[in-house]
Order: sequence, then structure tokens, then C-alpha cells
Amino acid sequence: MPAYAVIGAQWGDEGKGKIIDFLAENAAVIARYSGGNNAGHTVINDAGTFKLHLVPSGICWPHAMNVIGNGVVVDPEVLLKEIGENDLAPERLAVSDRAHLIMPYHIVLDELEEKRRGNAAIGTTGRGVGPAYVDKVSRQGIRVGELLDPEDLAMRLPEIVAFKNEVITKIYGGDPVDLDEIFALTNKWASKLSAFIRPVENLVADALNKDENVIIEGAQGALLDLDHGTYPYVTSSNPTVGGTLTGLGMGPSSYGGVAGVFKAYCTRVGSGPFPTEIHGDQGDRIREMAGEFGVTTGRARRIGWFDGVAAKYSARVNGFDGMIITRLDTLDGWDEIKICVAYEIDGVPTDQFPVDAVTLDRAEPIYESVAGWSESTRAITKPEQINPGAKAYLDKLEEVVGIPVKVVSTGPHRNETLVIQDLLD
Ligand code: IMP
Repeated sequence: MPAYAVIGAQWGDEGKGKIIDFLAENAAVIARYSGGNNAGHTVINDAGTFKLHLVPSGICWPHAMNVIGNGVVVDPEVLLKEIGENDLAPERLAVSDRAHLIMPYHIVLDELEEKRRGNAAIGTTGRGVGPAYVDKVSRQGIRVGELLDPEDLAMRLPEIVAFKNEVITKIYGGDPVDLDEIFALTNKWASKLSAFIRPVENLVADALNKDENVIIEGAQGALLDLDHGTYPYVTSSNPTVGGTLTGLGMGPSSYGGVAGVFKAYCTRVGSGPFPTEIHGDQGDRIREMAGEFGVTTGRARRIGWFDGVAAKYSARVNGFDGMIITRLDTLDGWDEIKICVAYEIDGVPTDQFPVDAVTLDRAEPIYESVAGWSESTRAITKPEQINPGAKAYLDKLEEVVGIPVKVVSTGPHRNETLVIQDLLD
């Protein structure tokens, strides 16, 4: 069972980084396929605490090759920083020559576009991710591999930068970017990154051909997916399972499984509908207890109860064969825990997740409650250590979503992980 995808099943920040670091022990390749440094993955193990935005979360294992696939948009400044901070060599990290670059003007445009949206702002991370994907689709993008051909780049860049500056100054009234500075940056990136630039699809294929495990690392979450998420309050890529194939250049027959990572409750950063959002003290309590602040932007995350309608939808569009539940310990000590099992929209009950954000915004959650538990689940690692209350909650999640819970994260450290069924079997 060589390729196994670990995908964010909610609105991102489900704790994928910790799970990937845990699973990478038994993987030859860890591969990112979508998004950019809008992601923020926290990895905590005996070597320390790592806050990663772009490089995959398998970097703490010396045996593993970490790859950034063609579907990712790459800010070379961030990549160089993470390479430096983590002392990564080309034997352990590769970036696809087909991945698109996040250029300085993309970051400028991300900010200007958000300002212009005013009250309708998406609440992007401001990292230039959306504008970089726009250029990819409009065929004005620059790919990582082009850094290796400075003569060609010198011919293309002036026209691209001139156009961007027209948009920046004439439409948004912003300050133009400087062509010479950008060209100097691309030269620097080329000299520092050339050894890392590889046809990543070959690395993935080689590992799969050798029957080695490849962990496919999700970023963001299914409900932020450009096609399947709460459009327009979404990111600009496809975090759902389809994105793994285009974003890495591999075929579906390589798959051993697709797991969805769900927090034991829900969070969301940025704007957009969030039916189970908890306002007031209870939400504040979870936010403070669990440190629910964005790794990338530091923004306070919005908190909500587990949304079973959204979860079932997410499981369907991804074909999940198992759930990984994170942050179970955050719910220790609650008297009552709610699970949304259906919505009421305009007076009509439904268990279907609406396609448009306006309708979803009118959805009133219908809850069922389970009794809480007073025992600690923190750091438990064996199924027999789960107390009956927590077990009943996990059983309820399985019933509502319709797929088994295979792994439970019971704390941020790699070792604080409870495996009910081995994912890589
Ligand atoms: P963008 O991806 O920066 O364009 O932001 C679009 C939306 O996705 C915003 O609501 C962001 O807050 C959200 N978003 C992007 N990346 C992440 C992530 O890694 N975790 C959670 N939310 C994210």
C-alpha cells in the first residue's frame, strides 16, 4: 500500500503536521501537493518544536525524502529560510521544477485585493498564494524550473512586471515593484536553490515502484477547497484528494488509502460561513486552552462544535477510508459535548452540505449531545486507555460521519498518539 494521503477534512489547522511527522517514520517520501506558505504546520518531537509553512512535515526523519510537488506555489524566500533553519540538504528535500513561484508582486497584490474587497474580504493569509495561482491559470506564471534559465527569464520578466505594475498602480493605486530588484532576487534564488530543483514526479514514481511508502501531505482543508469548499471563502488550490494527483503527477492506482484529519471540534480562520461557531465564553475557553491561534498569521481562530454535516460531505468528496481525530484532550473536563448532526435551512431540516456560502450562512445546526468525561485523555497511546465517555464520543463521530476512527491525537508531541488501526497497513 504505497501512497497514503493525509488530508485536512475541515477548514485547515486540523493538526496534520503532527500526524505526518508521526507517520513519516515508516515512509520513504513525504510529498506536498497544494497550497503554499499560507499553511502552518507545527511539529513537536524529541528534536524540538518546528513551525513549518512550506517544507513537508517529514523533515525530522533523516531517512525521509521530502518533496514539494508541482501543485504547490513556492515563495523562494520562505523556502530558503526553512532550508536554512532546518539545515536541509538536496538529499532530503526536492522542489518540483513545475511548481509556480510566488513573486513579490503577488504578495503586494494579495494585500491590495483584500483591501479593495472591504467588508467582503476573504481574510487571506496575505502570502500571495491566490495571485500566484491566478497567474498560473492565466499562463503568466513563472515556474521554479525557469530560475535555471536566466536568459529566458530576463526576456519574459520585463513584460510581466510591467503588466503587474499597471494593475498595481492604475487599478489599486499602489506602489510599483522594481524590475531590477526582482531580477536580482531570481538570480539569488537560482544560485541557492538549483540543487533542490528536480522533476519531483520521478522521485514519487521511483518510491512507489519500489513499494516504499509515500505520505501525501495535505495543506489547508477540504472546506477551503477551490471547487468543493465554501466558495468564495476558500483558498485558491485543491486540498481535496483530486489535487494530490495533479499536484504530484501520479496515478490513483498507487493509492493505499486516504485519511481525513478532523479536529475533535471545528475551527476556522478568515471569513466565511461557519454554522457551528461557538460565540462567547465557551469558544474563548477552547481557544485559550488549545492555543487556537494561527501558526501563519497569529490570528485568533474561530471555534465551533464538530460539524457532522460538513464532515460527511468532506468524507464523500475525498473518499476517506478513515478518520484521524486530533485534539481530543482539549475536550477533557466538559460536562456536555455537542455534535451537529443536521442543519435546518429556512425551516427545512437537511443533512446535505449546501454548495453556496450564502445558503450555508443561513444554516442552523441541529445538535445531539454526549456526556463529557472528567478523566484525562492527554498522552494516552493505547485503545484500552480511552475512558468510556471519550470512547462514546469517538463512537458517535464514527456513526455520524460513517467511517472508522483509526488514529487519535492526544497531545501535540509525536508520541502522544493513539493508533487504533495502523494507517499504513
Ligand atoms: P489564502 O489561502 O491565503 O488565499 O486564504 C484564503 C482563505 O483560506 C482564508 O480564509 C485563509 O484564512 C484560509 N487559509 C489559507 N491557508 C490556511 C491554513 O493553512 N489553515 C487555515 N486556513 C487557511
